[in-house]
Amino acid sequence: MLVLGAALAIIPYVPWGQYLSSSVSGTGSYKRQKVVTDINPVNGAGSGKAVNINDLATYPPNSSWLVTYPSSGDLTVDSQNPDTFVKWQLIRLPAELGGDKPAVDAFVAFSKVCVHLWCSPNYDPEKSSNPTNETYQCPCHGSIYRIPDGLSIAGPASLQSPPTNAIPMLTLSSDSGGDLYIEVPTFDVNHNGVVGYGRYYDTYETYIKPAEEGSASTSTASAGALG
Ligand code: FES
Repeated sequence: MLVLGAALAIIPYVPWGQYLSSSVSGTGSYKRQKVVTDINPVNGAGSGKAVNINDLATYPPNSSWLVTYPSSGDLTVDSQNPDTFVKWQLIRLPAELGGDKPAVDAFVAFSKVCVHLWCSPNYDPEKSSNPTNETYQCPCHGSIYRIPDGLSIAGPASLQSPPTNAIPMLTLSSDSGGDLYIEVPTFDVNHNGVVGYGRYYDTYETYIKPAEEGSASTSTASAGALG
């Protein structure tokens, strides 16, 4: 296993995502979608519920939930869909990164497909493997992505050239009542990224991070996402 793991870690990256037809790529006919978590025990008290940014009890800081985007329109079908290319890890940031605010930028949503070789990373709320922050970690070969911008900071994904060294993310917003939404994404490397391939990590600041509570991130984001 050690030999196999070492071999996989040094195999040159092949951007399979460029060659395969994925349900999450390009600028297809995606819809703005209310965030409702999958019906899944891993989602705890939030399982199968709409996420509200003001609900710090159900959705506390430094926690995460599994979400499907794009939705089929049927939560049960979504929840049973094993395709990680439509799965996202919704993370409420730790308090030191603003996760304790009742604000939309307290949340980020990372693709469940590692940009190395497509295993499925998980949010680690402990600081066990990184001295400065909680991270998003892939169990297969140890790629670690930092929050909130999704740049890989360790492991084989961190050694890949941009844009294949950052995890795709969704653009979030909220309505006046605090319900969380996924804005219509643009799945290219200059915006939300290409699932299984990558994203220019600074698009978090320029496109993905909400500029203020209750809005999509920037005018660029609004034009790109909703146009
Ligand atoms: S698939 Fe290799 S580190 Fe994630």
